[in-house]
Amino acid sequence: MMKFSRDAPLHTFLDLSTHENPSYRILEVSAGTGGLTQVVLQMLRNLEERSGQRRSEEYTYTDLSPAFFENARKDLEDLKDRITYRKLDPEDDPIQQGFEECRYDSIIAGSVLHVTSDLAATLTNLRRLLKHRRRLLLLEVYSLKIYVLTLGSDHLKDGDLRRNIAAFFLC
Ligand SMILES: C[S@@+](CC[C@H](N)C(=O)[O-])C[C@H]1O[C@@H](n2cnc3c(N)ncnc32)[C@H](O)[C@@H]1O
Repeated sequence: MMKFSRDAPLHTFLDLSTHENPSYRILEVSAGTGGLTQVVLQMLRNLEERSGQRRSEEYTYTDLSPAFFENARKDLEDLKDRITYRKLDPEDDPIQQGFEECRYDSIIAGSVLHVTSDLAATLTNLRRLLKHRRRLLLLEVYSLKIYVLTLGSDHLKDGDLRRNIAAFFLC
């Protein structure tokens, strides 16, 4: 069982947003090996044990590469009744990839959005999956040094924007 603090901002966010909402739906973008998934699902379980109420209906675990799913299924075996595995490229139109518009109450993205080639396009795509006025939970370990390093990547379509931001912080 993973340990976490009940005072952690993520725990507080989940507590407040799933309160009295048993049909809460979450999509995780590029969940990879599922480290963050385990934390979120354990927190939801903990909240359910404390409140005696169901806190979510659906957890959609996505990645660009379905190769991650096999290991994730093994690692998350005891939470399998909660998880649906689906391939999603957040840089492409999610509706054309078979996802339903405005379906999710929260989208969670951990250490992933910075690797996409066009942040604005990615955020626009993800926005289409969210219900009106719901939340994108963005978790990025921020270091300007790492951020500037990503500027060297040829695949970036918004390199100028990132260079301007880096220049602003470096002044
Ligand atoms: C650093 S891992 C983060 C994994 C997970 N979110 C976590 O917090 O443990 C980065 C993830 O981004 C995915 N990824 C790599 N390039 C991507 C891209 N261009 N668009 C979307 N996801 C990408 C990888 O498949 C991997 O799962």
